[in-house]
Amino acid sequence: MKRFLAVLAIALLAGGLLLRASRSQPLENTNSGPQYTSDGKLVRPQGYRRGVYVSSGFGMSYNPDVGGNGQPAFTNVFVTPSSYDYFLANGKWPDKTVFVLEEYRSTSHGSINQHGSYQEAFLGLDVEVKDESRFPEKWAYFGFDTTQPSSSAIKPAKNGCWNCHDQSAAVEHSFAQFYPELLKVAKEKGTIKPTVHLETK
Ligand code: HEC
Repeated sequence: MKRFLAVLAIALLAGGLLLRASRSQPLENTNSGPQYTSDGKLVRPQGYRRGVYVSSGFGMSYNPDVGGNGQPAFTNVFVTPSSYDYFLANGKWPDKTVFVLEEYRSTSHGSINQHGSYQEAFLGLDVEVKDESRFPEKWAYFGFDTTQPSSSAIKPAKNGCWNCHDQSAAVEHSFAQFYPELLKVAKEKGTIKPTVHLETK
């Protein structure tokens, strides 16, 4: 009986440890920064949905192809949890920050819905990383379709994505002006770029 109890205790302990290890995996991934393949492509971010949800846009697309069939797209933005903590303290983004923007087609018709829009088909990911040792321009941009496992940085380095984010984003390359909780922090820390105007033109 004693022996049986000892074996049971060990089995329970091992089981518990295994469970913890498998549970903690995706959470660790969300803080591990950008990961690259041996040929320098960005690995599709995993576990970002367990990161910090920043905000959503609706029909804000700057790409005429996104949204499909004239339906405005939803965009959901997530960021690395440790970067979010750093931002709360400093109003700036640390090196190795990963932003993931999900695109979803919207629809109004389905189930019991009568008014308003909700998110339907997944269209892909736009990803932005701050990686100063890898990219002299500090920020780099990537696109992923619905399943693609890795993606090359969009070239040239100062491409359309980079330029628009450099010129018009309120804090460094992030569009904090469209994320109310981040905007509060940026105002408090005084980190909004002086060249960016927050009021509508
Ligand atoms: C004409 C301006 C413009 C261009 C070009 C552009 N973006 Fe953005 N981007 C925005 C705006 C505005 C937002 C905030 C609205 C939103 O969340 O959809 C945004 C948000 C983002 C975000 C969320 C984090 C952040 O910086 O606020 C990512 C990631 C992103 N864009 C990636 C890309 C990629 C990749 C490309 C190129 C394929 C690109 N963008 C091109 C204007 C632009």
